[in-house]
Amino acid sequence: MEIIRKKVKDLLEMQAGSEVLAKGWVRTKRGNKEIAFIALNDGSTIKNIQIVVDKNPDTEAVLARISTGSCIGVEGTLVESIGSGQAVEIKASNITVYGECDPVRYPLQKKDTSFEYLRSVAHLRPRTNTFGAVLRLRSQMAFAIHEFFHSRGFVYLNTPLITAADAEGAGQMFQVTTLDLAKVPLNKKGQPDYTKDFFGKQTSLTVSGQLEGELGATALGEIYTFGPTFRAENSNTPRHLAEFWMIEPEMAFYDINANMDLAEEFIKSLVRYALEKCYDDVKFLNDRYDPELIERLQGVVDTEFVRLEYTEGIKILETAVANGVKFEYPVFWGADLQSEHERYLVEQHFRKPVILTGYPKDIKAFYMKQNEDGKTVRAMDVLFPKIGEIIGGSEREADLGKLEARIDELGMSRRNLEWYIDTRRFGTCPHSGFGLGFERLLLFVTGMQNIRDVIPFPRTPKNAEF
Ligand code: 4AD
Ligand code: MG
Repeated sequence: MEIIRKKVKDLLEMQAGSEVLAKGWVRTKRGNKEIAFIALNDGSTIKNIQIVVDKNPDTEAVLARISTGSCIGVEGTLVESIGSGQAVEIKASNITVYGECDPVRYPLQKKDTSFEYLRSVAHLRPRTNTFGAVLRLRSQMAFAIHEFFHSRGFVYLNTPLITAADAEGAGQMFQVTTLDLAKVPLNKKGQPDYTKDFFGKQTSLTVSGQLEGELGATALGEIYTFGPTFRAENSNTPRHLAEFWMIEPEMAFYDINANMDLAEEFIKSLVRYALEKCYDDVKFLNDRYDPELIERLQGVVDTEFVRLEYTEGIKILETAVANGVKFEYPVFWGADLQSEHERYLVEQHFRKPVILTGYPKDIKAFYMKQNEDGKTVRAMDVLFPKIGEIIGGSEREADLGKLEARIDELGMSRRNLEWYIDTRRFGTCPHSGFGLGFERLLLFVTGMQNIRDVIPFPRTPKNAEF
């Protein structure tokens, strides 16, 4: 009778006694004259299953072909383990070597296991314990996000990646073109003639699905997007990627307060999910790198976030400066907050997450609802320990006249946005939404320090390897 392969995660939870088949990659091989121990991992869990092989001339020949990184299949009996660390192990009766792994050339053999080195072998780093844990967490978090919104009746809306609109108005877009860059056709003004381009107009990769999300919300009520987002900002920081994933819920009939309530509930539910459903991986990262990780995650789940006006935030920061706290960037009303400022508020002053609202309109996007003071908008940024801004959102300007005036005031072109402005022409409604940076969430949940280490294949300035 043929034995069906079982995943290591399931094998480790089985009772001893049955004949089993496991397949995976060898993490380590060690032993003595009589016996060899192989730690086998198949990616289903952070844990390895121990394979015990009695040495004899037959098995010696197979064992000689096995080293760290090789891929094998093992048939044998699941037995109780006398060693510590695992309840069961496999006493091997037959081993198949699928792929040998040259110990001299295998890049993960090297002593250098720094994250920097591992980025240079990002095609293999998922085989390390750390990246296995991070990538499983990433997948689980994606699932938790869909579950959160589906259980609340939100519609998952797919918004385009290629667009003619600059949703954030920040001009940080990657252009998409099929024009021959060596001989770009020019119009009468000597500018590129985009009518000759693939789409007949200038297009780029999207910086946000929000504008289309608003079209969805004003028809379906509550929607969310979850997809790749591209920004050509030349910021080489541990918190920025040129290609990242964003989750953008957009809700009709939510004001800024309902928006904040949802953001807080959303992020707490995701962190709770990580603690409950991904405990092994979180615990591994906690014990290996960041002994306060679990405490920090639990802290977020248990506390009420602070809600604070930008103006109040600036006062706190100015007081800090007056008391000798040093920041690299200046603090004044009107300044865009840097992550050092955000982290001061969260980590030093309040010691809990902060939702900052009422930002100056000049540092925020055109679509945000303007307050009566004429100076501020109903923006909300959720600021987190270690991360700074994890969510950015707002109540939207629902008034046609005010929206058009703001677009003009900023010197933006209305022509590419007519379809968006239609939401305010035809049955406009109060509505709100926000964007959660998926990798920023993962930085928080994993305790990793660099955003390049929570996405399988990071894209950053001067780096599009793999
Ligand atoms: O604050 P942002 O720019 O907001 C928007 O794009 C809105 N359209 C969202 C909305 O209201 N629907 O970006 C939202 C979040 C940030 O808070 C941050 O977590 C993340 O996206 N983010 C980045 N993450 C990684 N790399 C980058 N370059 C990022 N830029 C923004
Ligand atoms: Mg923002």
